[in-house]
Amino acid sequence: MRIIRSITEMREFRYALSGSVGIVPTMGCLHNGHMALVRQSMSENTITITSLFVNPTQFGPREDFDKYPRDEQSDIKRLEQSGVDAVFIPSSSEMYPDGFDSWVDVSGITHVLEGACRPGHFRGVATVCSKLFNIINPTRAYFGQKDAQQVLVIKKMVSDLSMNIEIVVVPTVREDDGLAMSSRNVYLNPSERRAASVLYKALLKAQRMYSSGERDAKAIIPAMTAIIQSEPLIRIDYVAVSDNAGLKDIEFLRSPALVSMAVFIGKTRLIDNIILSNSDVDTQAI
Ligand code: PAJ
Repeated sequence: MRIIRSITEMREFRYALSGSVGIVPTMGCLHNGHMALVRQSMSENTITITSLFVNPTQFGPREDFDKYPRDEQSDIKRLEQSGVDAVFIPSSSEMYPDGFDSWVDVSGITHVLEGACRPGHFRGVATVCSKLFNIINPTRAYFGQKDAQQVLVIKKMVSDLSMNIEIVVVPTVREDDGLAMSSRNVYLNPSERRAASVLYKALLKAQRMYSSGERDAKAIIPAMTAIIQSEPLIRIDYVAVSDNAGLKDIEFLRSPALVSMAVFIGKTRLIDNIILSNSDVDTQAI
């Protein structure tokens, strides 16, 4: 596996390749969720490149950039063992040299949900992904459904800016109790970790209500809220039901609907979501 730290070397590596190239952008501290993206890319492309870059521009001033978990050596080992062809690990100054002053700003869908709670977050995400796409020129790029709004923002950017890249979305990988895998789960102490299992229970409650015919967000949201609030360690940032395209709040659920949440458990902010669609109901009815 090639370990590449400079943009020039990454370009040279890329342009010597033939066949399809899959990129898996990550901020490292890899877990099985990231590795599901890696595996899918490897099964669909000749070459897979993973990036490890804790992107400073997507963190707000009061967020966890400094203490975001980093473990480059074990990430490299894990990627090497999985058979990835190259890992791109640029420094902050390689990606954002002095005088950097150009940004990719997707409007509309970035102003709600995560965008409303984390101003500037998606500008940082869109900018760094554009740079990675320009440097690596991938055939396909892999993103997790765990970050549902990120997926929509990247798809919108790729479409609006006519980028010739296929965006592939991979289902959320969960722990045994349903907690979505996240690099930030390492922040949770044992009692917080136990409390965190109510998040998936709340999402399953929404799914059950939807399956039995409930379509009113004003019934679904309070039922989910009650489950989450049964854990005193958890504070809700938002629980929302939105259309899974423009991310507008919806009162009556049409298919597909995005049910999403952000919560604080202690100082740790976690997000999760589920998509409710008629095909789920059909599957469950069989
Ligand atoms: P990061 O949080 O490291 O996640 C990298 C990719 O892994 C994202 O596409 C994310 O949705 C996916 N992922 C994380 N947890 C997952 C899980 N439990 N199941 C499936 N996929 C999961 O998201 C980012 O980094 C950054 O914003 C990035 C896109 C790299 C830009 O800096």
